[in-house]
Amino acid sequence: MGLEFVDLFNDWADTYDSTVMGGDEEYKEVFQDYERILEAVAERSYGHVLEFGVGTGNLTEKLLAKGYLVHGIEPSAGMRTKAKEKFPDLDLYDGDFLHFPHFPEVNSVVSSYAFHHLTDDEKDQALRLYGQLLKKNGKIVFADTMFKNLFEKKAMVEEALQKGYQHLAHDLETEYYPLKETMAVLFEKNGFDVSFEPLNRYVWLMDATKR
Ligand SMILES: C[S@@+](CC[C@H](N)C(=O)[O-])C[C@H]1O[C@@H](n2cnc3c(N)ncnc32)[C@H](O)[C@@H]1O
Repeated sequence: MGLEFVDLFNDWADTYDSTVMGGDEEYKEVFQDYERILEAVAERSYGHVLEFGVGTGNLTEKLLAKGYLVHGIEPSAGMRTKAKEKFPDLDLYDGDFLHFPHFPEVNSVVSSYAFHHLTDDEKDQALRLYGQLLKKNGKIVFADTMFKNLFEKKAMVEEALQKGYQHLAHDLETEYYPLKETMAVLFEKNGFDVSFEPLNRYVWLMDATKR
């Protein structure tokens, strides 16, 4: 469930870090200010942090630098290998947003560039699980591509096509990038107060606190 993209990430693991550094013209704007985006997620988190979709460990690095206790969840074996090369002592588990080991006393659930791998129904299920896991004032901090509305989504797809960015246009159309309104409803419904902040033309910071 929510794992249809894992093969792609096994194949991408070796070149992923070059893409986020702007090495792929099509995705340059998606990863614009990547380091600042990850830093923003780390700054809004605290304590015992559960990180989903660790990838090659770039957000993990920021979380560890802040002295947080980090447990990472990552479904792609290729990505886990890359993250482990950087952080051999990291507690990293095979799992996904919906299936993961139970940890007591989690303060923050975080993720960057990954929550869109779940359908909106699965996002709802995940937020329900985190609502049960976190205590009052616990945080969910996600950075991910999101659209203000359907018009904006359509315009971004058309812009990508006009630039000849076929892969980006295909991703924008086929992955489950949510609308801002959908995320607002899902956080609210699952017991969180949430605020949204745009970090580049694609990526938003979602900063949610358990009521
Ligand atoms: C674009 S990468 C982001 C990696 C890293 N967080 C970053 O900011 O660079 C997306 C990651 O999410 C993982 N992923 C895909 N489906 C997932 C799921 N259902 N649950 C958790 N992680 C998933 C992929 O394997 C990949 O490592």
